[in-house]
Amino acid sequence: MNNNSFTISVPAKIILFGEHAVVYGQPAVAIPVMDLRCYGTIECKSAEEPATISATDLNVSYSPGYEMPQSSIQHIQKAIDYFAEKMQISLPLNGWAMTIRSDIPVGRGMGSSAAISVLLIRLLAQMTDIRLTDEDVTRYSFELEKYHHGTPSGIDNTVVSLAKPVFFQKGQEIKTLKPARFHFVIGDTGIGKHTGTIVADVATRCENNPAQYSRLFSRIGEISTAGRKALEDGDLQMLATLINENQSVLGEIGVSCTQLDDLIKAAMDAGAQGAKLCGAGKGGCMIALADNNESARRIQDAVLQAGAAKSFITILKPEEQ
Ligand code: PMV
Repeated sequence: MNNNSFTISVPAKIILFGEHAVVYGQPAVAIPVMDLRCYGTIECKSAEEPATISATDLNVSYSPGYEMPQSSIQHIQKAIDYFAEKMQISLPLNGWAMTIRSDIPVGRGMGSSAAISVLLIRLLAQMTDIRLTDEDVTRYSFELEKYHHGTPSGIDNTVVSLAKPVFFQKGQEIKTLKPARFHFVIGDTGIGKHTGTIVADVATRCENNPAQYSRLFSRIGEISTAGRKALEDGDLQMLATLINENQSVLGEIGVSCTQLDDLIKAAMDAGAQGAKLCGAGKGGCMIALADNNESARRIQDAVLQAGAAKSFITILKPEEQ
């Protein structure tokens, strides 16, 4: 047991290309959002004090081993039980306090649940002095993600645990990318959505129309492959074209919605080079590609004006490799 207090954090993420198609084995590209994070602290307490776990955003806390967690934080206890079983250890019931808080909007396609899963694995590993590789963290957090989403592709927990842009394809070696510098604006519709339900709806439509959906998913796969190159080459025009094309295919798949379309249009009218929904869709967030910082600010104002609940500017930097 590590007897030092410490805080760690993990980033949010955005899927730049390939959502939904990635579930069907096509490649996708995701980037971390480094300045939007969730944080976890472990504090050492006296040996007599029962351990506590607190989620400050939800204003809930409990003592593991002494009381049951409230339903809103049962996933934290699940993560602890999973970790303890996997590592064949038992955590002391006294002498420590874990606090979790997150700036990542929940249910908006920014990886809030993946971030919590990765954070918990990293916190528990550091707390128990167990060394894990990034690959271990990716693998274990994927198991936790299954509690939330049933059949996740694995892209969310991968980009969050590696904290690097990734080219992800199920069952293939994960490739981390060396992107050029790009400015993005994220607009949050303010509409929460349930990824599992949207993925299941797409699956039903796909079963009813396999040929059409297979064509759409393949097209997205091609866009992801070309998008990866544009990202690494610093080709703003090509990146923009591919973002717009990806949005158009996502529209055909039926996962956009009026609020996303409104924010995308507002961003484009304000000078964005390209814009698309990101994540499962039907709410959540959109992302727009800007020329530079001033342009990003104009786009941010426009999406807020068009009704975004929140908007963030994020800069993808080559040095984040
Ligand atoms: O909205 P999010 O962050 O949960 O992203 C889901 C991405 C999907 O491709 C729709 C599902 C998945 O598991 O990859």
